[in-house]
Amino acid sequence: MLGETVITHDEIQRAVAVLAREIDADLEGREPVFICVLKGAVYFFTALTQRIRHPVVVDFIQASSYGATTESSGTVTLIKDVTVDIAGKDIYVVEDIVDTGLTLADVVALLQARHPRSVQVVALLSKPSRRKVQVRLDFVGFEIEDRFVVGFGLDFAERFRNLPEIREFVPDGEATP
Ligand code: IMP
Repeated sequence: MLGETVITHDEIQRAVAVLAREIDADLEGREPVFICVLKGAVYFFTALTQRIRHPVVVDFIQASSYGATTESSGTVTLIKDVTVDIAGKDIYVVEDIVDTGLTLADVVALLQARHPRSVQVVALLSKPSRRKVQVRLDFVGFEIEDRFVVGFGLDFAERFRNLPEIREFVPDGEATP
């Protein structure tokens, strides 16, 4: 069931504006390709890239998701690859949330193998206490505690992505009385 609001829509928009300014300042002299990690990052990705003033190339990648549970399987498979040539380019991987870090570590390794000039990571949310592998996050909107959240792109079993805010989600049977 849906729980309390963790981050309001206004708070998200303000954080996105701050991140866009920081990233814009970083873009001077670069050839940026912004890669959205589908599906969860899509709302964050469109909000962020529209606020960036430098011209950027956008592309999309999709790795496997949790399915209908709130725990990572730890095995990441590529469902959709990027279509642009990223060799020599400055990559900004845009993620919704970094939890164990397993998905991101795999995505970054896959992209690094294609010899981009640089790879940086932009994440709307991070749950540092859940990390299983160390991944460098260059731009982060919010650090949150260990709770499962939905909304603004984040889902539980494909539901709740279109919520404008980020809310806690407690799977049935786990709710405290
Ligand atoms: P990781 O591989 O454990 O870091 O998980 C990354 C992916 O798991 C994210 O891109 C999300 O799709 C999903 N995920 C992790 N935590 C949450 C959450 O709290 N709500 C919804 N999806 C999550």
